[in-house]
Amino acid sequence: MTQKPYIVDELISAKAIAARVEALAKEISTHFADTDKLVVVGLLRGSFIFIADLVRELDLPVEVDFLEASSYGNSMESSREVRILKDLRGEIAGRDVLVVEDIIDTGHTLKHVLEILETRHPRRMEVCALLSKPSRRETDIEAKWLGFEIPDRFVVGYGIDYAQRNRNLPHIGAVRFTEENS
Ligand code: IMP
Ligand code: MG
Repeated sequence: MTQKPYIVDELISAKAIAARVEALAKEISTHFADTDKLVVVGLLRGSFIFIADLVRELDLPVEVDFLEASSYGNSMESSREVRILKDLRGEIAGRDVLVVEDIIDTGHTLKHVLEILETRHPRRMEVCALLSKPSRRETDIEAKWLGFEIPDRFVVGYGIDYAQRNRNLPHIGAVRFTEENS
């Protein structure tokens, strides 16, 4: 696929992310202190680095599972239709569940995923998202724990991609197209 050249501006440093992840993990550990074994559900693929860092800071017995929902394909536009591409391996009925998302944009993906998971009757289910773009919201979905609110910029890094690129950046960056190609 051909791609317009772009520059990535640093928005959130790796150090700031690490500090925030540690703080979130403390709050989550306190909230679920009485749980038997927390099921941490990562939404693929964007949450894979966030969930890896987060679970290592949790002071709780955890089980890790993954779910992949269809989203943007290779474009920057949010599709309203959400499908499950890869389902959980484990059961969540009667369990305490933490859904981990990379970024809440319109909120349609998360809303749909939560609706599906609710039909399986978890005991408790909460959401932790790394990023949120509140100005883009089209649903009433919010995360109980949020890393950072960001402006309406397309972001990459720390697991988050643009057309499958830049997931391996250690920080969060914002995409900016270069003059001659925009
Ligand atoms: P929503 O359904 O509009 O909330 O979109 C959520 C999903 O879209 C996220 O889980 C991301 O996978 C993707 N997404 C939203 N904004 C961005 C972005 O700025 N960069 C990369 N992916 C994004
Ligand atoms: Mg996603």
